[in-house]
Amino acid sequence: MAGGVIATDSGSNQDFPAKLTGQVLICTVIAAFGGLMFGYDIGISGGVTGMDEFLMKFFPNVYIKKHHAHENNYCKFADEYLQLFTSSLYLAAIVASCAASFMCKKFGRKPTMQAASVFFFIGAILNLTAKKLGMLILGRLFLGAGVGCGNQAVPLFITEIAPPKYRGGLNVCFQLLITIGILIANLVNYFTSNIKPYGWRISLGGAAVPAIILLIGSFIIVETPASLIERGKKERGLKTLKRIRGVNNVEQEFEEIVRATEISNKIKHPFRELMKSRSVPPLICGTIIHVFQQFTGINVVMFYAPVLFQTMGFGSNASLLSAVITGTVNVLSTLIAVFSVDKAGRRKLLILGASICLIAQCVIGGLLKKYLTETSKVPNGTAKLVVGLICLYVNGFAWSWGPLGWLISSEVYPLETRSGGFFLAVATNMFCTFLIAQAFLSMLCTMQAYIYFFFAAWLVTMIVFVVAMLPETKGIPIDEMVERVWKKHWFWKRFYKSSDIERPKASIQLENQDRPSQ
Ligand code: BGC
Repeated sequence: MAGGVIATDSGSNQDFPAKLTGQVLICTVIAAFGGLMFGYDIGISGGVTGMDEFLMKFFPNVYIKKHHAHENNYCKFADEYLQLFTSSLYLAAIVASCAASFMCKKFGRKPTMQAASVFFFIGAILNLTAKKLGMLILGRLFLGAGVGCGNQAVPLFITEIAPPKYRGGLNVCFQLLITIGILIANLVNYFTSNIKPYGWRISLGGAAVPAIILLIGSFIIVETPASLIERGKKERGLKTLKRIRGVNNVEQEFEEIVRATEISNKIKHPFRELMKSRSVPPLICGTIIHVFQQFTGINVVMFYAPVLFQTMGFGSNASLLSAVITGTVNVLSTLIAVFSVDKAGRRKLLILGASICLIAQCVIGGLLKKYLTETSKVPNGTAKLVVGLICLYVNGFAWSWGPLGWLISSEVYPLETRSGGFFLAVATNMFCTFLIAQAFLSMLCTMQAYIYFFFAAWLVTMIVFVVAMLPETKGIPIDEMVERVWKKHWFWKRFYKSSDIERPKASIQLENQDRPSQ
């Protein structure tokens, strides 16, 4: 991550003395509210854009189209401003995550999270009180700034605060909180849609709640030892480390962090390092996994599920209820990832998950092609079957490409390029999310049911890529990826020319000891 993740290695053979203390748990839960804020935003826009009062106020053309008896089913929501309402957030998030990466490094993780909650709060209030479209979009931009800061600082914070052996599980908790945020938003929409005419204001203003919790909570949590040490506050770093580990003999871990910091500080131009041939394999795999994650089409469901269901002829309420069902499936299925990710292996989960999504997308596309014409309604039984298939699709995503996209991109880089590499992963994710959010409704209008085959084609590409190109990283110490994974891979090994083979000296020295990572 651009802020410079400095923590000890989960893959190291040695376990530093540490307890899973109440401090760590409380800090993780509070920080994960950043994930909840992100998830709330993902889930809230689709339901709100399906509410008539909201459309009448800000998007009257869409409202008229939606209620026009002969309007094309596939096109009634196509409106670039409506798309901009959803997508503007992600554009702001790209810019903010870049700024946040510097903020994390210079001022620490805690102030970056505080900034996230303040941006979020302002955005929520602007949306709650929005009078004009401009104010609404401005609110979304503030929310985006919150998402950018939060997504940069929170995973970094959790990674650094967690004892190494609990780090994987605690990291998936961030994704879990994202899915819980999406579900809460779906539920809120379901209830507020009956509060007329201002239910949508409650939905959008509701984002202020997790923001306030994160803001208050961020005064309770500690700054990470790595961030303190990185900013020259060694003594405070040591004291904090003792406190969060619940033991006194933390010297070894402390020294590891100090050494990792020194290496990280020695690399003055991590982005230049990223451009070297030896960085190409992790750079391609760590970045493309986020392109693929988004082109599974997941956010079409997360953002536009209620709109999609309305397209099929469901009433507003039934559509919102269906979104609650898919949201619940998302949360429960993510729990599977918590337990299976370190057992089954990344490749197996990715291939299986993509195959399930592929089957679901193809059947949905086939059914809609057959039953959903421009003006007809889908028969009741078929519509229910489609909801079931969307649940199957969400399930396939939630224990594979969802959490693994984030996990793999954070573990494939060697220490010296990990910061810059992970920042590019976050930015790529936000950019592709923006593209999908901005283009989907227009694509639905033009491609109609074929849109499902468009995503199916991506899923086939992803399966082929994983089978042929993506190495297995399960159980490999993260600082041994270059030697044990990339240099042994049939294709990627060609990027390690003899002149490139040696990694920066400092890293090699550390590899001979029990090294720090992330
Ligand atoms: C993705 C989000 C998506 C969410 C769904 C995350 O991993 O990055 O774009 O909305 O999963 O649960």
